[in-house]
Amino acid sequence: MSSMDDFIIGLPKAELHIHIEGSLEPEQMFAFAARNEVAIPYASVEEVRAAYAFGNLQDFLDIYYAGAQVLQTRQDFHDLATAYFDRAAQDGVVHAEIMFDPQTHMERGIAFAVVIEGLLSAIAQAQGRHGMSSSLILCFLRHLSEADAFAALEAAGPWLDRISAIGLDSSEVGHPPEKFARVFAAAAGHGLRLVAHAGEEGPPDYVWQALDGLHVDRIDHGNRALEDDTLVSRLAAEGMTLTVCPLSNLKLCVIDAIGDHPIDRMLDLGLRVTVNSDDPAYFGGYVADNYRAVAEARKLSKAQIATLARNSFTGAFLPEEAIAAHLARIDAYMAGQTD
Ligand code: HPA
Ligand code: ZN
Repeated sequence: MSSMDDFIIGLPKAELHIHIEGSLEPEQMFAFAARNEVAIPYASVEEVRAAYAFGNLQDFLDIYYAGAQVLQTRQDFHDLATAYFDRAAQDGVVHAEIMFDPQTHMERGIAFAVVIEGLLSAIAQAQGRHGMSSSLILCFLRHLSEADAFAALEAAGPWLDRISAIGLDSSEVGHPPEKFARVFAAAAGHGLRLVAHAGEEGPPDYVWQALDGLHVDRIDHGNRALEDDTLVSRLAAEGMTLTVCPLSNLKLCVIDAIGDHPIDRMLDLGLRVTVNSDDPAYFGGYVADNYRAVAEARKLSKAQIATLARNSFTGAFLPEEAIAAHLARIDAYMAGQTD
């Protein structure tokens, strides 16, 4: 391991953009398929990995939703999240806000309770096992209707005090944020924080809609905001957190090469950017792999990398005191660096 690898792993960090269904590794897919007696259209782990060549977001989503079919029981959701937390802890993640897609499961007859109780037990275990704090972001699938999103919010009713935020994911183009303005307003009325994927494939206008129509606290991705200078100024002035996912951007062809990643341009523009894994089992890396990829490709300094980690706490849905304590840990870590 290079000294940069050690530096990245040792840096305390939060992960703010990870879809737990996107942490389903091919080996786990086979194990869950076998124990639940679900058929999968692949003969081997190698065949699954070979299928992970995507031309765009929709290519990925088709495979991601198919993979999620193997998740059936509370134990499956517990094991899935536990494997993620164990892996994230190795990358120096001390706080994680994990997204989940209940509609993917509810539409195939899996009760909301099965999904969330499995995830909640893994969250409690990760706190004890790794000292890692974590919370849940319930995402609405934007290719489904507003009424469907309201039904998911309704199903979540008994657990709303154990969910930190609402998110919006799935096929972006053709499903603008404003389609979900009323259900986001209802969620805000329940005291939930709000995030939305915007500007991954969709135009800058979708980022404007997420800000002014949904009143989000963070933007997931946000790459295409760079096409609109007025929007960039607004995001920078508000200190809006963007949860950027470099290896996802590469795999979903949002960028042509990792060397083209705009992470340092975003930092230079004063945007509060963070680095995240999105769907680590599908995109070839967990959070430290994402830091490493941009650090190498864009020759980031340790100070720039520390800023990315600081932003992950500043943008986290944590109490002020917890954020301050995490930032103090980064300061102490940086003070101990010799170069
Ligand atoms: N974009 C939209 N929906 C998603 C993604 C993403 O990157 N990952 C999982 N669902
Ligand atoms: Zn995502």
